[in-house]
Amino acid sequence: PVLVVDFGAQYAQLIARRVREANVYSEVVPHTATVEEIVARQPAAVILSGGPSSVYADGAPQLDARLFDHGIPVFGICYGFQAMAGALGGTVTHTGTREYGRTQLSVDGGVLHEGLPATQPVWMSHGDAVTDAPAGFEVTATSAGAPVAAFEDRARRLAGVQYHPEVLHSPHGQQVLSRFLRDIAGIAPTWTAANIAEDLIEQVRTQVGDGQAICGLSGGVDSAVAAALVQRAIGDKLTCVFVDHGLLRAGEREQVQQDFVASTGARLITVDAVDTFLGELDGVSDPETKRKIIGREFIRSFEGAVSEVLGEAAEHGGAVDFLVQGTLYPDVVESGGGTGTANIKSHHNVGGLPEDLQFKLVEPLRLLFKDEVRAVGRALGLPEEIVARQPFPGPGLAIRIVGSVNQERLTLLRHADSIVREELTAAGLDGQIWQCPVVLLADVRSVGVQGDGRTYGHPIVLRPVSSEDAMTADWTRLPYEVLERISTRITNEVPDVNRVVLDVTSKPPGTIEWE
Ligand code: XMP
Repeated sequence: PVLVVDFGAQYAQLIARRVREANVYSEVVPHTATVEEIVARQPAAVILSGGPSSVYADGAPQLDARLFDHGIPVFGICYGFQAMAGALGGTVTHTGTREYGRTQLSVDGGVLHEGLPATQPVWMSHGDAVTDAPAGFEVTATSAGAPVAAFEDRARRLAGVQYHPEVLHSPHGQQVLSRFLRDIAGIAPTWTAANIAEDLIEQVRTQVGDGQAICGLSGGVDSAVAAALVQRAIGDKLTCVFVDHGLLRAGEREQVQQDFVASTGARLITVDAVDTFLGELDGVSDPETKRKIIGREFIRSFEGAVSEVLGEAAEHGGAVDFLVQGTLYPDVVESGGGTGTANIKSHHNVGGLPEDLQFKLVEPLRLLFKDEVRAVGRALGLPEEIVARQPFPGPGLAIRIVGSVNQERLTLLRHADSIVREELTAAGLDGQIWQCPVVLLADVRSVGVQGDGRTYGHPIVLRPVSSEDAMTADWTRLPYEVLERISTRITNEVPDVNRVVLDVTSKPPGTIEWE
């Protein structure tokens, strides 16, 4: 792999993603990893990430100069660039002038920026600057605040840049990273969806052997792709379980029961738990109570199905030892599995693991980012409706009805939601939108007029957001024509709705969901 050493500024994961976008496999390691540990992984290259603003800051992580004794190609970024310069005998000066944000870079020679514009915008964020490059390095770019803004030593396969090539504000950054990987480090771009799928299928085969496995399908991308991989690896020894809690959107049950099964050939058990869920949710309007009920009932239903599968296996003298989970790489990194800067997000997936069931976990996606999961899904032949699906919360439409949940309200919301999805897709906007919750304010009524009569109906809220990771988000500026079409259709076609409103709040302060 290419190892990205995380100096703790949240850029490391993004760098790893960009390296993979260049079709080279990459992982994040904490800056506390020793040179011995890094060398033992036999990295194709090492990338030193950004970090604190100054190498002179209190407690700034140090770079062990012995890293450069092993002939490993190294690329330094921002803090990593300065740390690299310092370790190799260059000069890093505390200049006192900070350079922050969009900056003009002047390029002069070298391989990294070859063929790119001589002056180009890049994203800077630094207080110190490299004022002398180490011996053997050619200085190939400068900026107003950085006399040495990029350097390279092709013979030793070392290079670095002061700016952040991984962020979108550095429009040529991805090319620069690719240049390093290909032209300086000499790495072949073989990390492609088809290869990934093949490797993962082989790994699952090795892990599970002759064993049997079970997988809960949520209707979402991750569990579908995980299940599809395991199905390819072990065929009918995988049983998929889908709990229909009645809180899904229009067509989603069919997607799992028909499209998923048709494209994978997987064995599927559907648990129809709609009445149980709606019964338990009756009269409940507090969001957290809804979540608790749904979580509890989900585990119950799932466990019921699991014991059936276990019983069936036992009849044939077998056992089910493995549980498939669609855990992704960001979850692994964020729960401390990959870096020193654990930034723990609360994972509020419905269900979680039934605690008293003893399974070994199969997590074929644990080293993949979301876009890679989608690419692997496509390589496995999963339909676009599943692979391109936007995130949808485990508790489903229950947390998009502000007020208590019942069948009538669900039907109404499902109808409005399907109109929104249809229109956004027809307008070609899916790619710009992270997700678009459609919310029913079930306890609010407002006066309207339709035909000759006064109406007293409910509002529907549209909440289109753009985001990279759901941690922060901005409201998406949808074209007025599209909003107009959605509004007209919802008020005409959905009974009891006489108003459509648009949520124009970013996150923070708003969350993406209304509950
Ligand atoms: P918020 O509303 O916290 O949402 O800004 C961030 C992301 O998480 C999803 N979300 C959930 N997902 N169970 C889930 O599986 C939940 O209870 C839940 N609540 C929010 C939300 O759709 C968004 O993608």
